[in-house]
Amino acid sequence: MKKTYFVTGTDTNVGKTWATLALMQHFKNQNLSVLGMKPVASGCEKINGEWQNDDALAIQKMGSQFVDYSLLNPFAYELPISPHLAGKENPAKLETIFSNFQTLQNLADILIVEGAGGWYAPLNETETIANLAQTLNVPIILVVAIKLGCINHALLTFEAIQNANLHCAGWIAVCNDADFDYVDLTIESIKKRTTAPLIATFPYLETSTEFNFEND
Ligand SMILES: Nc1ncnc2c1ncn2[C@@H]1O[C@H](COP(=O)(O)OP(=O)(O)O)[C@@H](O)[C@H]1O
Ligand SMILES: [Mg+2]
Repeated sequence: MKKTYFVTGTDTNVGKTWATLALMQHFKNQNLSVLGMKPVASGCEKINGEWQNDDALAIQKMGSQFVDYSLLNPFAYELPISPHLAGKENPAKLETIFSNFQTLQNLADILIVEGAGGWYAPLNETETIANLAQTLNVPIILVVAIKLGCINHALLTFEAIQNANLHCAGWIAVCNDADFDYVDLTIESIKKRTTAPLIATFPYLETSTEFNFEND
């Protein structure tokens, strides 16, 4: 049984990478072979002559088997800014990403792809994360950081996913703001207003691998 998901978020820094790692761990716990992909990453360091990004390295490490860094992160940009700005010299190409994506899909039962930024984050001068998701054409998982303003961002993103004719397999509530007191009420407010199922709620955690899905 092969499954692939595309992980997007209501914003940057909402918990997409942690959710991607937790999903990978979840499927590994079911004895499935799992790989991850972070096709476009801004904010890289040069390691052994290659630009590499912390999210992509964590995703590479979580994989059931070793795959070349450039396969899972073909577009790695030095500056920690939007890909269309960071990648001016080497703009992200959907064709390259799709070809790597197909290779990775063939190597494992499960492939989890982490986007960059939010749904309409520009990838290059003409395309966005939404166009990337349409090209990959797999179910979407939306990560929502539970904080003031997230209800609006979540509902806007659900609508945009629907407008792209893609299926939202569900959403993950990430409680990464320890000072926000209205977590349950906020999660309930989103639940009431969307048909996408809440897949998991990640409590405030110290590390990304502490989270357990209920059926693990
Ligand atoms: N469940 C959590 N509990 C506490 N902090 C979290 C949690 N999930 C994410 N974080 C924090 O939020 C930051 C952003 O998460 P990350 O997964 O890197 O977001 P994104 O990939 O969307 O940019 C992380 O550096 C981490 O410190
Ligand atoms: Mg990330």
